[in-house]
Amino acid sequence: MEIRPTTDEDFEVFVATVHTAFGQFPETPVADGGRWWSALEMDRGLLAVAPDGKPVGTAAAYSFELTLPGGTLVPAAGVTAVGVLPSHRRRGVLSAMMRHQLAEVRERGEFLSVLLASEARIYGRYGYGPATLTARLTVPRHRAEPAERRDGAAEDTGSVEVLPRADCGEILEAVYDRYRRAQPGALSRPHRWWDLGAGQPPVSRAPRYVAVHRDADGVADGYAGYSTESGTLTVDETIAVGDAAFTALARYALGHDLVSQVVFRHVPPEHPLRWQLADIRAGEVGGHTDWLWVRLLDVPRALTARGWFTDGELVLDVDDPFLGEHGRYLLTVRDGRAECVATDRRPDLSLDVRDLGSVYLGGTRPSTLVRAGHIRAHDPAAAARADALFASDLSPHCLHWF
Ligand SMILES: CC(C)(COP(=O)(O)OP(=O)(O)OC[C@H]1O[C@@H](n2cnc3c(N)ncnc32)[C@H](O)[C@@H]1OP(=O)(O)O)[C@@H](O)C(=O)NCCC(=O)NCCS
Repeated sequence: MEIRPTTDEDFEVFVATVHTAFGQFPETPVADGGRWWSALEMDRGLLAVAPDGKPVGTAAAYSFELTLPGGTLVPAAGVTAVGVLPSHRRRGVLSAMMRHQLAEVRERGEFLSVLLASEARIYGRYGYGPATLTARLTVPRHRAEPAERRDGAAEDTGSVEVLPRADCGEILEAVYDRYRRAQPGALSRPHRWWDLGAGQPPVSRAPRYVAVHRDADGVADGYAGYSTESGTLTVDETIAVGDAAFTALARYALGHDLVSQVVFRHVPPEHPLRWQLADIRAGEVGGHTDWLWVRLLDVPRALTARGWFTDGELVLDVDDPFLGEHGRYLLTVRDGRAECVATDRRPDLSLDVRDLGSVYLGGTRPSTLVRAGHIRAHDPAAAARADALFASDLSPHCLHWF
């Protein structure tokens, strides 16, 4: 089995192989596949080729920027288009592609990669851990009355306008960019995607309504892309630079006539929206799931890159079985900055690199993984110290689909 990099000339065979591997591409009508896949970076693709010359597997990566706790932006390989033909499964083709790809990511100087997993059991073995969670919030309209106004509620002095998707591409791109720079766990959406109309709504040109929120000065600071069908209004994504814009857009959706319920997709686990309803039980959380998976490829670089919010020290013994690597690091945080150096001190925590990926953005507490039996704490206080240290300023969230 040969794993080889792709070029632009491989585009058609690459896309055909991905489609065959999936049997279908549920989020991507084949007729529209050209547009969707045209955002692929063919110099980052891999094809697995059988001895008879037949392509049997694919993997690719986008060059994203990921926002870390504290607002640091770092390059991240966004792994995508991973598939192996049904006729060639369970013979190690994916493992060979993953090994190749991780080496390539490192060569480019990226110290982490991210992905969305079609099935949760595939990627742990390659060092990926689920790092952000997301859910869907469903609110029946007849129970959508807002909570009484409380002292802490910011007054919305802005306005909401509905625009046709075709007329607001640039506005959406600018709002998304402001939002993602401030949101840990968020990914950049390259200009090319907006330009091509590739990807999920509202990045795609699919017919959708878009409500745009503007602040008191008329500057767009939020949008909600939505559609209505059979009495349900579904908001694909609500992107807001601040809570006031989010609240105004949510009220807009909940106030829509001729629908009986509103579904907000991709709501972060701790979002205040339910608290803003007179009846907190009116907002039903469903579809709670992992979203972004993170794989660290250089532990000291990754740990020193993110922001930290409590001083402290921790010795981490990190095992990376897939790459056959192991390191013990002293992490020291002072005044929001971390140092991370090799040490032979006694470890506080022993963990697999996939677990470090899960706690890296602050979305899962290390103590949860200690309790789950994934991380080993060498003394009883170590888990609580790790919780305090790894906590993020804002809980991480990602809603980009790729
Ligand atoms: C998922 C997929 C890429 C796996 O490819 P593959 O070449 O069969 O994987 P490998 O043979 O390298 O598997 C390596 C190991 O992972 C396990 N594994 C692979 N896919 C798995 C799955 N879906 N569920 C559970 N285990 C899985 C294998 O059993 C094997 O375990 P072992 O080393 O203990 O024997 C392939 O099944 C596929 O194309 N599926 C449909 C498309 C898809 O879901 N792609 C992923 C998009 S995120």
